[in-house]
Amino acid sequence: MTIFHLNLEDCVRGMARLLAGSIDLVVTSPPYNLGVRYSKFSDRADRAGYLRWCKTWAAKVARLLKVDGSFFLNVGASPANPMFPHELVLELRDLFVLQNTIHWIKSISIEEKNDEIVSRGHFKPINSRRFLNDCHEYLFHLTAEGKTPLDRLALGVPYQDKTNIARWSHTRGRDRRCRGNTWFIPYETIQRREKERPHPATFPVELAEWCIKLHGVSRVHTMLDPFLGIGNSAVAAQNCGVPKFIGFEIDESYLAEAKRRIG
Ligand SMILES: C[S@@+](CC[C@H](N)C(=O)[O-])C[C@H]1O[C@@H](n2cnc3c(N)ncnc32)[C@H](O)[C@@H]1O
Repeated sequence: MTIFHLNLEDCVRGMARLLAGSIDLVVTSPPYNLGVRYSKFSDRADRAGYLRWCKTWAAKVARLLKVDGSFFLNVGASPANPMFPHELVLELRDLFVLQNTIHWIKSISIEEKNDEIVSRGHFKPINSRRFLNDCHEYLFHLTAEGKTPLDRLALGVPYQDKTNIARWSHTRGRDRRCRGNTWFIPYETIQRREKERPHPATFPVELAEWCIKLHGVSRVHTMLDPFLGIGNSAVAAQNCGVPKFIGFEIDESYLAEAKRRIG
């Protein structure tokens, strides 16, 4: 059973109250400053001011994260702001080591051997002569020293070519290899947004579950999401049996929905 501490509070203030080095895992997605229409938060600050604010809250995360902890930071871009994820991660380079860069793939089309094209997932189409439909976001894996061990096979996949199992000694005879850094996780199909997903910028529960599993379920005692939204990270913590979860959110309607979803 997960013990939840979900707070209606600015995360910078809230995180300052927590004990240094007390968090194993942070999974979060901050406002991207790309003009998303939240009900309370204004998502249009000047870029320099926004990056300064990110450094302020990220410094609080750095204080709380254990030396062997993991901080998974989800951010996307927009055609008008293609450099935003890179600017953000550069701003944080004095605080963390970028241990892995993961691409969260929301939609993909694959040409099969028989020339059939298979498409999976959802994306927002862009009506443009210049820009491609945006089908991915970043998930930066930030750590204190770049040496955090991972449970790579917890997200492992079977080998396509089974002869590899015997060929490579590191498999120890198991039909399981590291999935790599492209994670295909589509949004769930919904009928009524205001009821089923009443928030303009969420990630799927599964994205946070995969972060927990990759860090190692048994090594996650306390998990934090400073920008809780409607609580997809909290639901993931519950699904994985994380003992303690702390979240902050400044919008009471989103927080209420997060509390409702964890029952
Ligand atoms: C991108 S959304 C997070 C969505 C979340 N991952 C989910 O799946 O529901 C960012 C959230 O941060 C909240 N927020 C903005 N500034 C905040 C602050 N200073 N402290 C806590 N929450 C804040 C916004 O209200 C918004 O719900």
